[in-house]
Amino acid sequence: MRKLAQLPLDTAAFAAKYGPWAVIAGASEGTGECYAQELAGMGINLVLVSRRADALQVLGEKLKDEFGIEYRAVAQDLTEGGAGTKIVEAASDLDVGLYISNAGADGFHGFFEDDVSSAHRLVAMNISTLIDAANGFGRKFLGRGEGAAGRGGVIVMASGAGLGGQPNLAMYSATKAFEINLAESLWAEYNERGIDVIAVCAPLMDTPTLRRTVPEGFDLSQACDPSHVTHNALAGLQAGEPLQIIPDGPDQDLQPAVEAARKARLVGFVEFNKQFTGG
Ligand SMILES: NC(=O)c1ccc[n+]([C@@H]2O[C@H](COP(=O)([O-])OP(=O)(O)OC[C@H]3O[C@@H](n4cnc5c(N)ncnc54)[C@H](OP(=O)(O)O)[C@@H]3O)[C@@H](O)[C@H]2O)c1
Repeated sequence: MRKLAQLPLDTAAFAAKYGPWAVIAGASEGTGECYAQELAGMGINLVLVSRRADALQVLGEKLKDEFGIEYRAVAQDLTEGGAGTKIVEAASDLDVGLYISNAGADGFHGFFEDDVSSAHRLVAMNISTLIDAANGFGRKFLGRGEGAAGRGGVIVMASGAGLGGQPNLAMYSATKAFEINLAESLWAEYNERGIDVIAVCAPLMDTPTLRRTVPEGFDLSQACDPSHVTHNALAGLQAGEPLQIIPDGPDQDLQPAVEAARKARLVGFVEFNKQFTGG
């Protein structure tokens, strides 16, 4: 498995800012489970969301035994209409400081050959559910800081596929582009007000979903350890980064410059757009 250098993370400060509860949408395995494991290790309680209640229960009990955290398992299909709002409601009595939009993968297939209903399911999960959940939790983060400041964080698991179009990933690429632009915009809007938002352009990662997706004989050694990616995402959020691109794929040499250019552009618009809002 490909290893990534691990970025520094201050766990006590992280728990103080983004605890005491975090919500992970797509938590039962893969990167969602990696996030759960590391957050529980910091003593952060977890709302674990995915379709399989039994898998969430097993994970929650394991983390409760290992770290003494509390957890809530919420069985919810993220492609269902209103899923984002239902997740916010399921956590309405908890002091949530972090929302992780994790689930969002799709297989490789031709757009014209595909049943268009699967395209709409991906839009529901990666766009509609993200909008409702980010808005619902973000609204609450606005009131959690000292004085007028907000406090909280949102991590959006995007993909390098969102940086431009790719064959056999049309809907995936398009919805991941939405995720990146939404996260960048929210970072630019709320970063100065104490709410951190990061989009992670994840590389190929050795997750159960990837293993189910790729053909027999696929070289998995090129795929990253998912826990390395999720650790760096948590560190990037804490460092106040809007975007993390982990270089991967045939355009990987271009990606550091893309990341730098996108960040510089965003910072410019934070100041430029103040003339429109008076702030
Ligand atoms: N793996 C990669 O190589 C790769 C590369 C770049 C980006 N990413 C991104 O990283 C994120 C995580 O990827 P992943 O490989 O771990 O696979 P994933 O299929 O996106 O996520 C798996 C997790 O999400 C849950 N899940 C999947 N579909 C769901 C649905 N419709 N409703 C509710 N929960 C659902 C699964 O649990 P249940 O089965 O219990 O529902 C599981 O806990 C995704 O956003 C993906 O696009 C992955």
